Amino acid sequence: MSFSITTTTAPTPAARRAEILADPGFGRFFTDHMATAEWTVDEGWQELRVRPLEPFSMHPGVGVLHYGQEIFEGLKTYRHADDSLQLFRPDMNAARFARSARRLALPEFPPELFLEAMDELVRIEADWVPPHGDEASLYLRPIEFASEAFLGVRSSRTATFCTVASPAGAYFTGGVRGIRLWVTTKYTRAAVGGTGDAKCGGNYAGSLLAQTEAQEQGCDQVLYTSGPPERRILEEAGTMNIVLITRSGKLVTPGLGTILPGVTRDSLLTLAPEHGLVPVEREIPLPELVDGCRSGEIVEVFAAGTAAVITPIIALAGDGFEVTVGAGEPGPAGLALREHLLGIQHGDLPDPRGWMRRV
Ligand code: COI
Repeated sequence: MSFSITTTTAPTPAARRAEILADPGFGRFFTDHMATAEWTVDEGWQELRVRPLEPFSMHPGVGVLHYGQEIFEGLKTYRHADDSLQLFRPDMNAARFARSARRLALPEFPPELFLEAMDELVRIEADWVPPHGDEASLYLRPIEFASEAFLGVRSSRTATFCTVASPAGAYFTGGVRGIRLWVTTKYTRAAVGGTGDAKCGGNYAGSLLAQTEAQEQGCDQVLYTSGPPERRILEEAGTMNIVLITRSGKLVTPGLGTILPGVTRDSLLTLAPEHGLVPVEREIPLPELVDGCRSGEIVEVFAAGTAAVITPIIALAGDGFEVTVGAGEPGPAGLALREHLLGIQHGDLPDPRGWMRRV
């Protein structure tokens, strides 16, 4: 497959870029270029292009607009002290992107091409990667969608791959001080055999009403459960996985199946023993969470995700209950794991597993 680069003739002025990087927030600003590739059933993936960011022009009949045949990823680029630009475990995103594609009946984007696309886009947008020492990073958002104009319900015969880049600060303003989750038993995110473990836009579209209700309840995000009313099982929060720390030193998180297999989740399970924690993946019934917070058996709860990093959960509420986690402030285990993870990502701590990829 061929590769081409076209640079923009109207880049964001350096002064404006500096202003954005000083306070990027999350997802509000985009860099000057994007990476794209087109696929057809007859010819497979065509040229990978890095080119100026511009709107897509598409037929109103394309599959993604009607049936939501779409997947995405999220990964971050960090500037290390030696000025190198580094991606965190992009191979995991590449593999998940291919798995999500399979589930959504889209063509798999080859993982080696995924890595090449990330590298090339980051190289051309190097000036957009925040300085070392800053908590911010450059977030990459690969997507793939059905681009054939056809109204029958079948998989598209053409598809588009695209990656945009967006400088990213904290997902939650003041998130490290802790957030509140609304535990919904009214809405379910996914069922066995559904698309819960694929990263597809539809999972998030379906979460927006629940998220609005969570905010109406004074919470920052929703936490999903599944199963019969008397035995609701924790799933994941709106944009991140959920992790509990028990008094007996276990790091417990819901097992895979209907939840997103998060890269941060996997990294925490791997790092846990270095923090004296036993990693456990299992079903967590909602009563165990509520009673455990009340009795002190659960000492910390936090959320984990690429955008959210590790965000402490200081309170949980749902129909008929409200509990404070621990002392109602971020706990030491979550904060230590957060420092460890960020240290590896920003190149300030050893990376014995080779998780970072130099662009
Ligand atoms: C990420 O953490 O990268 C995600 O994809 C969550 C997102 C929907 C904000």
